[in-house]
Amino acid sequence: MSSYQDTRKLTRTISITSGKGGVGKSTIAANLALQIAQTGKRVLLLDGDFTMANLDIMFSVRTNDSVESVLLGAKELKDIIMNVHPGVDLIPGGSGIYSMSRMSVFQKRFLMDQIAKLEGVYDYLIIDTAPGIDEDVLYLNSSADEVSIVLTPDPASVLDAYALIKVLNSHYKEVRFSILTNLVKDEKESIRLFKAVSDMAEENLLIHMKYLGFIPYDLSLRHAVKQRKLISLASPKSASSLALARLSKNMTAVNETVQSTGGLKVFWQQILNVA
Ligand SMILES: Nc1ncnc2c1ncn2[C@@H]1O[C@H](COP(=O)(O)OP(=O)(O)O)[C@@H](O)[C@H]1O
Ligand SMILES: [Mg+2]
Repeated sequence: MSSYQDTRKLTRTISITSGKGGVGKSTIAANLALQIAQTGKRVLLLDGDFTMANLDIMFSVRTNDSVESVLLGAKELKDIIMNVHPGVDLIPGGSGIYSMSRMSVFQKRFLMDQIAKLEGVYDYLIIDTAPGIDEDVLYLNSSADEVSIVLTPDPASVLDAYALIKVLNSHYKEVRFSILTNLVKDEKESIRLFKAVSDMAEENLLIHMKYLGFIPYDLSLRHAVKQRKLISLASPKSASSLALARLSKNMTAVNETVQSTGGLKVFWQQILNVA
């Protein structure tokens, strides 16, 4: 068997993040997971927003479990993972993620053993993060194969995205970033936002910025949220659903050529800082 085939089996990790809050990260992470799963891939979603874990609610499931139950020795990782849709599994958030960088070596190793068992089960790990530059957010992002930053037309979102890029570059030596936009009018506005950030970043830092696409502001998405439904399921032909489908295509097409650098195991090793 060629080494090419070997690396193909690794789980590719993608973080969905932002400098500023409320830009649509969780909406995007959940719907991307659905769209990717529809192409026959297996997706694991990690709710990494410890300040406001809500992916379980988005998928209309409730749980008191989180990674914390695993650390307390009460549960195995595989027991807290929830199947929320065909092809989509969820690691629920809660405060468990928050305490990861503060875990004991013993706890980290225990969790690593559990995670090693999942390698190869999933094609993608999608991480929904909290916004900003807190240590735990930086950890999750720096451990992912692809850091995808969400921008919106709010001027603060561009500046905060730049701040996030800058600290990930200087503290974690991240040099590649992907950009997607949300809540925009059209592609023209999206490209303008991308250029604003990439010009600033590439002028001041030695980094490479990639444009992934955009999701328009969509009233039917608001409507779906009010009904506690995910737009890709509630209204697959809506402008935002079609945009999310294009986005997932772009993200996964890229992955055909750019291999995962380490898969699930390396992702968690980096988070937990154990070799
Ligand atoms: N493309 C869009 N069009 C209209 N409303 C949106 C869109 N994307 C997100 N929203 C709304 O924005 C709010 C914040 O979204 P959310 O995914 O929770 O953001 P975050 O995870 O970044 O805090 C939600 O009420 C959601 O319904
Ligand atoms: Mg969120």
